Amino acid sequence: MSDSLSTLQGGVAVITGSGSGIGAALAHRAAAAGMKVVLADIAVERIEQVAADIQAAGGTALAVPTDVSAAESLDALADAAWDTFGGVTLLVNNAGIETLGFAWELSTETWDRALGVNINGVVHGVRAFAPRMIAAGRPAFIANTSSVGGLGIMPVQTPYIMAKHAVLAFSECLRMEMDLKKAPISVSVILPGPVRTRIFEDSQGSADPVSQYHQQVMEDMLAANGISSEQAAERILPQIAAGDFWVSTDKEMTRQYAAARAQTLLDLQPPALAPELAASLLKV
Ligand SMILES: NC(=O)c1ccc[n+]([C@@H]2O[C@H](COP(=O)([O-])OP(=O)(O)OC[C@H]3O[C@@H](n4cnc5c(N)ncnc54)[C@H](O)[C@@H]3O)[C@@H](O)[C@H]2O)c1
Repeated sequence: MSDSLSTLQGGVAVITGSGSGIGAALAHRAAAAGMKVVLADIAVERIEQVAADIQAAGGTALAVPTDVSAAESLDALADAAWDTFGGVTLLVNNAGIETLGFAWELSTETWDRALGVNINGVVHGVRAFAPRMIAAGRPAFIANTSSVGGLGIMPVQTPYIMAKHAVLAFSECLRMEMDLKKAPISVSVILPGPVRTRIFEDSQGSADPVSQYHQQVMEDMLAANGISSEQAAERILPQIAAGDFWVSTDKEMTRQYAAARAQTLLDLQPPALAPELAASLLKV
């Protein structure tokens, strides 16, 4: 076990969106590192299965049906974690959904769900857990999942991209607020690159041809270039435990996205489609 992971041993991890993909793999990895794991997801059967698998491997897991877009659901999750295990060492606000479509064509319900899960879910998680984590006075960790997309821009994924920018800015402010309070809570932001999960198959959005085409391009890209969820978790967890703010699945890719964004801002360039994207999307 890496040195940083040994700091998590014996602790309690709460992971939202842990019924699938990166969240499920983080739950397994945390359990293997000796943590008790609280699994939170709207997909109840999936977290029950992940809990059963962790228990079958000798770990301890509790599945708590949770809708991160509802504040009271996160409060109930925090109550369940403290009632069952008496504390929380690590909160990963990982639940997220993809949304495809032109900004003005998406319904208010679709917008509400996209921002409710991807932004409010993170805010509600911090609001429900941070006070008790701070009051406990012990070293603890909060990690919020953004994306390399939080450093970039992409049309027809507008609700997702704006949410991931928001999660990044929220996490930066939160880290400083913990410093201001001298709280022993390390805040991280996770910026995954492509990971092979169901996120695009499960995406919500409109049926216009450009969005449908883009969804297929993204699904193909994850299949071709994505790492597995297990590889992602293997890279993510030690960085959180080491107290890193920027947590990557691929540091070089994160730097490239950051450099491209910084250059755009330095040059005050207007938004423009990358040539390869323009060539494909404008064909549709
Ligand atoms: N897969 C990638 O390439 C990639 C890249 C960058 C960032 N991310 C981010 O990583 C995180 C995990 O994504 P993933 O790829 O593992 O996706 P995934 O679809 O495999 O898993 C997401 C989980 O979140 C759950 N969820 C959805 N709405 C919820 C709600 N309201 N309340 C509770 N749970 C809810 C889903 O049921 C699902 O189990 C997301 O925040 C995503 O944006 C993923």
